[in-house]
Amino acid sequence: MYETKVLPADEKGIDLAERLLRAGELVGLPTETVYGLGADALNERAVPKIFVAKGRPQDNPLIVHVHDRSQLGGLTRSVPERAERLIRRFWPGPLTLILEKSAAVPDCVTAALPTVALRCPSHPAARALLARGIPIAAPSANLSGRPSTTTAQHVLSDLRGRIPLILDGGPCQVGLESTVLDVSRPGRAVLLRPGGVTREMLEEALGEPVDLGHGVLEPLAAGEKALSPGLKHTHYKPKARVLLFEGEPEAQCREMAAAYDEAARRGERPLLLCRDGLARSLKPRDCLPLGLSDQEIAARLFAALREADDRGAGLVLLQGVPETGVGLAVMNRALRAAGFDTRQCK
Ligand code: TXA
Ligand code: MG
Repeated sequence: MYETKVLPADEKGIDLAERLLRAGELVGLPTETVYGLGADALNERAVPKIFVAKGRPQDNPLIVHVHDRSQLGGLTRSVPERAERLIRRFWPGPLTLILEKSAAVPDCVTAALPTVALRCPSHPAARALLARGIPIAAPSANLSGRPSTTTAQHVLSDLRGRIPLILDGGPCQVGLESTVLDVSRPGRAVLLRPGGVTREMLEEALGEPVDLGHGVLEPLAAGEKALSPGLKHTHYKPKARVLLFEGEPEAQCREMAAAYDEAARRGERPLLLCRDGLARSLKPRDCLPLGLSDQEIAARLFAALREADDRGAGLVLLQGVPETGVGLAVMNRALRAAGFDTRQCK
């Protein structure tokens, strides 16, 4: 058991975080996407502690965070030209690239895969810590299966007593985890997890189509081999059951209102999560407005799922968004939060 400290992500906080990482301990740290649970990526005694602290399945590999392109040399076998192009365009930022790993990267980081996930975050606190020269292996800083954490308080509520330090860098701007793109094989790049760098942005930068990995928007079949281990695990689930409503806003409004009223009659404590406009039409029902734009919805989704639990909701009725731009990332998380339990509204 640790007495978990929460410190501002200033010079003093970063100093302590660096000392802890060098000593093989874990640190909760802010990034622009979600909070990360970091360890020295090259320390084979430190990395396994991440899996214990989160209760993470051993077969789910970690992302290695670097300060800049120059650190890739030691971690990868080669960096193909299209990866270079994406790095120039999107790093630092919410894009993780899957590349062939070098022998320096321990198997406990990559779940023994021949590839490694690499990301260069843009959050100033993450960058200040990475500037100390340690590549940091970090999954999202939540208990495995729960919604990712977008504030230091959320990290504390999941990991209190399990880690010595959380750096508080304020709420995360993007709010959903980074885009994961496999550029390790010949042929088209494959999107394994949509995020803040959208499929459209990637295709524009590469000048060619990007394939959507199977499992991004649909459940994998029983026994199907996942392109990315993360696709097969349960994810982003609050304690409440989540039901996702897809379709045109007017039909969503009608069906969400009806489902709410029925659940309320049954005493299920329903809660609506929807765009600001719909929230007004659904009044006076209990509702958490998520914002106007898809960006705002992305930034608030995980916090809203956690708030649903804090309020003791029994059923969350979540409004789906169109699967374009950041909306694809929102729907990838929303479908998993709902365990693929959806209503097509007509
Ligand atoms: O925004 C983010 O990416 C955050 C912050 C902390 O940087 N990190 C994050 O890590 O979301 P995590 O562990 O929650 O998600 C990593 C995802 C998982 O779905 C994992 O399966 C996939 O990346 N992944 C990691 N290494 C891989 C590899 N070599 N091949 C395929 N997928 C990989
Ligand atoms: Mg995660």
